[in-house]
Amino acid sequence: MKAIRVHEFGPPEVMKLEEVADLRPGPGQVVVEVKAAGVNPVDSYVRSGLYARRPVLPYTPGADAAGVAKAIGEGVSRVAAGARVFISGTVSGAYAGQALCEESQVHPLPDKVSFAQGAGVYIPYATAYRALFQRAAARPAETVLVHGASGGVGTAAVQLARAAGMRVIGTAGSERGRDLVRKQGADWVLDHRVPGYLDEARKITTDRGVDVVLEMMANINLDNDLQILAPGGRVVVIGSRGRVEIDPRGIMSRHASVVGMLLFDTTEREKAEILAAVSAGLENGTLQPVVGSEIPMGEAARAHHQIMETPAYGKIVLTP
Ligand SMILES: NC(=O)c1ccc[n+]([C@@H]2O[C@H](COP(=O)([O-])OP(=O)(O)OC[C@H]3O[C@@H](n4cnc5c(N)ncnc54)[C@H](OP(=O)(O)O)[C@@H]3O)[C@@H](O)[C@H]2O)c1
Repeated sequence: MKAIRVHEFGPPEVMKLEEVADLRPGPGQVVVEVKAAGVNPVDSYVRSGLYARRPVLPYTPGADAAGVAKAIGEGVSRVAAGARVFISGTVSGAYAGQALCEESQVHPLPDKVSFAQGAGVYIPYATAYRALFQRAAARPAETVLVHGASGGVGTAAVQLARAAGMRVIGTAGSERGRDLVRKQGADWVLDHRVPGYLDEARKITTDRGVDVVLEMMANINLDNDLQILAPGGRVVVIGSRGRVEIDPRGIMSRHASVVGMLLFDTTEREKAEILAAVSAGLENGTLQPVVGSEIPMGEAARAHHQIMETPAYGKIVLTP
């Protein structure tokens, strides 16, 4: 099979498509024939070598994919050969024709969800769910600002929040992105590149402020988020690419909280809750992953440039 291999950390071009041996499942494992692999910002941080978690070289990037269960290891009881599946991590890496997974990483993909959409399920939806429900404890009728709603996590968050009866303000930096956020059901859409745009959030909430902020770019926005929070408001730091100065009075005066999250550190019990909720949403159609670009796996470097350098539009997926 073909797989992307990284032999040294560095720019996107260190990713090379190579011929490697087919994978075989050990006990309790499943080999998935990958039909599409999801590209996440973390894949790019890891590849650069600057991320806290560094895989042993050489390695195959990627944690999200969808495809068909191809070979089933001894003792596997939940997954049958031929089943359509999405995965929540792999042992071997997802940017490849095949991915070796533990049985617990393999989940049914409903027929109405395409493989490309399935590749955009786990990291984006699990992150959005964890931020919204497990970290912010957001409730129906609350107002949620999805600060960066045009990308993978943001579109998932808008869908989850709307399905749960929240009022959603979404932001994006391009006209195309804002149109996408509107189509996901956001009640109000703002441009996070226009100076003073958060004044609108105040007006929308008739000066009360927003209950929850899901923050994709905390190094730019955290201080401003604190100024538009309602009493008891919560900011969830999902993404940050640097340092930021804040005025802590914004937290104090509102009895507010700033909480963080790292999907990789989610407990098994919390993961089970996330997977049950996300799988139900895929099944009943309230969750519909948006695929913005499908790129051949051999052009993974282009996908990494795109995710870090161009305005977001749903998910980028790689096809073997
Ligand atoms: N903590 C975790 O466990 C976890 C898990 C998954 C992802 N993340 C992080 O969460 C972030 C989003 O991930 P993703 O998969 O959705 O990435 P993505 O698909 O590349 O989307 C990035 C989003 O950030 C927005 N953005 C850019 N500049 C912004 C600004 N100044 N203010 C607000 N938003 C801005 C983009 O909007 P435009 O392009 O329209 O400007 C887009 O909506 C990334 O930093 C990622 O590393 C963290």
